Amino acid sequence: MIKISHGAEAVLYEDRGTIIKERLSKAYRLPHLDEALRKFRTRREAKVLQRLEELNFPAPHLREFSDKRMSLIMDVVPGEKLKSVLQQGDDHTQLAAAMGNNVGKLHQNDIIHGDLTTSNMIQHAETGQLHFLDFGLSSFSGKVEDKAVDLYLLERALESAHHQHPELFEKVVEGYKEAYSDAGKVLERLQEVRKRGRNKGK
Ligand SMILES: Nc1ncnc2c1ncn2[C@@H]1O[C@H](COP(=O)(O)OP(=O)(O)OP(=O)(O)O)[C@@H](O)[C@H]1O
Ligand SMILES: [Mg+2]
Repeated sequence: MIKISHGAEAVLYEDRGTIIKERLSKAYRLPHLDEALRKFRTRREAKVLQRLEELNFPAPHLREFSDKRMSLIMDVVPGEKLKSVLQQGDDHTQLAAAMGNNVGKLHQNDIIHGDLTTSNMIQHAETGQLHFLDFGLSSFSGKVEDKAVDLYLLERALESAHHQHPELFEKVVEGYKEAYSDAGKVLERLQEVRKRGRNKGK
């Protein structure tokens, strides 16, 4: 078993084709709230992954989870993080459209990712298909506002990690419209979310 990532919220290990994700305890949180939050996020991530599998959405296959150990065991998605793929080179337009397509499929099914960044996406080594990861902050919601904020956070993440490719988000929007019948309403709301973001400076 090898440690592959130790982020703010979780530590991840790889072991014979599987990923073990353990949600970490945070010393600054009150202990009972810390436990409740980790339990909630572990269960939520498991539930969303199960739903995504039913929908045939490209995300890791969940093998098991435990809300005692605060862990998930899922299959490895072989490939490279989209963040490094985009920083290296070609094919931006198609990848951005695939990103938008995936977000559109999630929103069509009232699933909000909650942390859309190119570090939470992997281009599958064999199929080339774009897979999404990291559903610990996701939620089920049909609200236009929640969907617009999801897209806004992606737009901001692209601006900061991929500022050398300012055209990416436009392509994301094209893919989004293709996959999601109610995209128009969300994109209209996105304009308001942007205005609010500008006014508050964040
Ligand atoms: N199923 C998977 N297959 C391949 N790699 C994975 C898988 N799940 C997670 N990873 C890798 O581990 C990293 C961290 O996983 P994840 O994003 O789920 O946790 P995190 O708590 O957000 O960690 P971080 O704070 O580092 O973003 C991912 O960016 C990805 O590189
Ligand atoms: Mg992550």
